[in-house]
Amino acid sequence: MHTPTSPHQIWDNLQQGSTALDEQDPEVLCFIEHMRQKYPPGSRVLDAGCGRGRYASVWQALGFTVHGCDLSLAAIQLAQVHSHLRSLAIRYEVADLRHLPYEKQSFRFALCTRVLPYHFKADMLSSLHELWRVLEPDGWLYLDLLDRYDSEYGMGQEVEPMTFLDTAGMPTHFSSGSEIKAALRGFAIERMQRLEQAGESHTRAIWTIWARKITTKR
Ligand SMILES: C[S@@+](CC[C@H](N)C(=O)[O-])C[C@H]1O[C@@H](n2cnc3c(N)ncnc32)[C@H](O)[C@@H]1O
Repeated sequence: MHTPTSPHQIWDNLQQGSTALDEQDPEVLCFIEHMRQKYPPGSRVLDAGCGRGRYASVWQALGFTVHGCDLSLAAIQLAQVHSHLRSLAIRYEVADLRHLPYEKQSFRFALCTRVLPYHFKADMLSSLHELWRVLEPDGWLYLDLLDRYDSEYGMGQEVEPMTFLDTAGMPTHFSSGSEIKAALRGFAIERMQRLEQAGESHTRAIWTIWARKITTKR
């Protein structure tokens, strides 16, 4: 009998086998640097879907208080090893973005990069609600999503509008600008760009978004 693979197993498999931290994206570094100039050291940051911690360590080195959470135990263990080797005081937890284990208004910043496209739309929306909940009023979210002009659009089986399932059972959702604006209820979108990044095998088309929490009810 074929047993469906759960999302954390898929991510565990992807995260295992590589111990290197990937290159950092200039867009994300620009957000972090902007916030460093604007806010005092010590402000609390959540790296949501932190993977092996390639950005958690950047925030921490700049003096922020950092939590990283991820669905994948393998990713969290690798992040903890990197953090331990470099004597970084980052708190890493296994957690699902759809049900974050933090009190409301716990963080000034949330970074969620290369995570939400790999969800069904309803799960993406639940995760955004959770990110909104755990941010302080006026707190900032950095988010990226895939645009339909990405060259992987249409690969796999379309299981709901703009969401495609690959053979491992991983969904990839592509977002339109209007969908993003509707999904970010309770936030002011301070910056939203559509970028194309040509890689060896395909062209990534991504939205990068900086959003500020503006309401305490949603
Ligand atoms: C492509 S990796 C990106 C990791 C990291 N944000 C980075 O940029 O290096 C996607 C990560 O999101 C995590 N993830 C996927 N769905 C998640 C969820 N619902 N809750 C928490 N983490 C999730 C995966 O386990 C994986 O580590």
